[in-house]
Amino acid sequence: MTTSLNVTNHSFTDCHALAVALAERVADQLRASLVERDVALLAVSGGRTPLHFFEQLSQAALDWPKVQITLVDERWVDEQDPRSNARLLREHLLRHAAAAARFVPLYTGAATPEAGQEEANRRVHALPLPFDVVVLGMGMDGHTASFFPGGDQLESALDPRRPPGVVPMRAPDAGEPRITLTLSALLQTRQLFLHIEGEAKREVLAQARLGLGDAAHYPVRAVFAHSPVPVSVYGCP
Ligand code: 6PG
Repeated sequence: MTTSLNVTNHSFTDCHALAVALAERVADQLRASLVERDVALLAVSGGRTPLHFFEQLSQAALDWPKVQITLVDERWVDEQDPRSNARLLREHLLRHAAAAARFVPLYTGAATPEAGQEEANRRVHALPLPFDVVVLGMGMDGHTASFFPGGDQLESALDPRRPPGVVPMRAPDAGEPRITLTLSALLQTRQLFLHIEGEAKREVLAQARLGLGDAAHYPVRAVFAHSPVPVSVYGCP
């Protein structure tokens, strides 16, 4: 483990070992929170990276009925759609012991994320913030959650003074319209993890943190710039 300003790096040579270790860290934090306040709140990312981590976490010994889980962002598609992050969670995280957790989806079934924003905001405002754990992923373009370069609501989503909530997001590389927690919402957390796999992402992250070239505009930089808690980066090749 290496530590630099506001960042703790956890590098693994094996992605399975990373998934096991990250699931243990997250479960430990959720357990500690349950002792303190009888509820625990977790926000996770979609995409392909977290699958093994989800499988591990779903089997952790925890008082799951007291755990609330939501997503840091959602693709605006029906839950049957293979691109739905809610579907991903139901298939890989909300199983085994974790099937008893309470899942709070961001997708509302409205025709567009703009039409669903009010209801999604209501759901987020009803969560017992702060989060105990937020686990982010990152794309090769330096996006995290749905903070995409070129996103139509990027500035608003990243405004640290904006009240915590959700914003719709449309971007050329997003695939479909999205909804995302605001930066101010996902930074209200006791622990923050960034989970990346592959040398290429490690390189993107290094460039982003240094602010070199295009990377100066990578949205993931905002997380490092504004996070009040250290960002624990979990990476494997
Ligand atoms: C999403 C995510 C997104 C994801 C990155 C990495 O819904 O797409 O929440 O922010 O974490 O795009 O995705 P991969 O893990 O698939 O590379």
